[in-house]
Amino acid sequence: MRNIGFSYDKRKIIDGISLKIPEKTTTAIVGPSGGGKTTLTNLMARFWDVQEGEVLLGGRNVKEYSFDSLMKNFSFVFQRVYLFEDAIANNIRFGEPDAPMEKVIEAAKKARCHDFIMQLPNKYDTIIGEGGASLSGGEKQRISIA
Ligand SMILES: Nc1ncnc2c1ncn2[C@@H]1O[C@H](COP(=O)(O)OP(=O)(O)OP(=O)(O)O)[C@@H](O)[C@H]1O
Ligand SMILES: [Mg+2]
Repeated sequence: MRNIGFSYDKRKIIDGISLKIPEKTTTAIVGPSGGGKTTLTNLMARFWDVQEGEVLLGGRNVKEYSFDSLMKNFSFVFQRVYLFEDAIANNIRFGEPDAPMEKVIEAAKKARCHDFIMQLPNKYDTIIGEGGASLSGGEKQRISIA
């Protein structure tokens, strides 16, 4: 990010920020609530565009990438998790609709949600959402990660 500036409306949220995140590393963005951390990450995937400066990925402006290639290369676990009123297995399949059951289970094991899913009466066929199983905040986040 090179000297970026961003406002949702009139209030400036990001002002003159420059940072470089090296490839294949882990970075934590830490700051006060409402400080602009989520906004900063959303700018990387072009959910919004900066008004000043530029956001580059691998040296190229994010605006030069197609939305398809951006979406294929970003994964987000939002603070607020969105799940569909559908079976748990189908929610996990969201990123790859044709994934076989073994792959769904493998993803669930990696995200540490396989064990609690197996304890539900209908296991991976359990419908979540309105009128379905109620899951805790952390359980929903794990399914979202998977
Ligand atoms: N869609 C939006 N429209 C207008 N203002 C917004 C929008 N999203 C966030 N804001 C405002 O921008 C500021 C930064 O919000 P942001 O969500 O980036 O903060 P954050 O650092 O992620 O906070 P938290 O630690 O609470 O998650 C906040 O003051 C918020 O009210
Ligand atoms: Mg946030």
